[in-house]
Amino acid sequence: MNTLESNVDTPTDAKEPAFEFSDSDFSYLRKLVFSHTGISLSEQKRNLVYGRLSKRMRAHGLSRFCDYCRLLKDNPDAELEHFTNAITTNLTSFFREKHHFDFITDELIHTLQERYHTQRRLRIWSAGCSTGEEAYSLAITLREAIPDIDRHDIRILATDLDTNVVKTAALGIYPATSIEGLDSQLIRRCFLRGKGEHEDQIMAVPELRRLICFRQLNLMHDWPMHGLFDAIFCRNVVIYFDTPTKQVLFERFAGIMQPGGHLFIGHAETLRNISSRFQLIGKTIYRRTC
Ligand SMILES: C[S@@+](CC[C@H](N)C(=O)[O-])C[C@H]1O[C@@H](n2cnc3c(N)ncnc32)[C@H](O)[C@@H]1O
Repeated sequence: MNTLESNVDTPTDAKEPAFEFSDSDFSYLRKLVFSHTGISLSEQKRNLVYGRLSKRMRAHGLSRFCDYCRLLKDNPDAELEHFTNAITTNLTSFFREKHHFDFITDELIHTLQERYHTQRRLRIWSAGCSTGEEAYSLAITLREAIPDIDRHDIRILATDLDTNVVKTAALGIYPATSIEGLDSQLIRRCFLRGKGEHEDQIMAVPELRRLICFRQLNLMHDWPMHGLFDAIFCRNVVIYFDTPTKQVLFERFAGIMQPGGHLFIGHAETLRNISSRFQLIGKTIYRRTC
């Protein structure tokens, strides 16, 4: 086998001609993903990149990844958004890592209410919100604990890099199966069921939707927000970030949080060797100390 052949992927599906994908294409795309999103793809993610970008190759009628790389270089404004949306991993669900929401209900709500009396506002950020289930779970938790929440200045900001997921999140429409397992009374209070051809869908009620502001935001870029957050959820987002990128990000999170504010991270994540500005107070729950 010559060098060229060993560097080019072979067909994965007999019905579809394989795209030519060289080491240098992969290397270019990895660097671009890292510089644009902070996501650090290992050598083992080659097939993932190939698979995720195949629909972009088909959309442009291309057969060689080097032509796709050229397109990204020549016309980033038109393609970078599609490229990013194709690369991100958006897995999420309602009340994922439920202990975080139980912690809010059982312990944090009193602190938040006390803080509200002093500040007259509360702000929570779901950073890397994907399709919005995390933010709606937060809204449900807050509304259940504070029935007259509409009379208060309490808001959730929910942001993601991926423009497609932010659109889905803002619509607030999900498959009915996504809320299976939730308490039936809670479902009745929080979701509307579709009718006719939409009966397999549910929609978050307006009372939840108006608590949340969904926006596209790349965590690697400047943050336009003013004011400090009382709590930040950044869960299962930095899992593919390298240590220096995480160190910078959590320093920035500390800078945009109230002293004593709470930070929630994903089940496989830790701030050990990443930041000394937070104290671990529960399972993947931190408080800003300095
Ligand atoms: C696996 S989802 C996690 C969703 C939710 N936080 C949860 O735990 O269920 C990770 C999300 O992080 C987003 N993400 C990745 N890099 C990002 C960046 N640089 N800025 C903003 N969002 C990013 C992805 O688009 C994706 O929707």
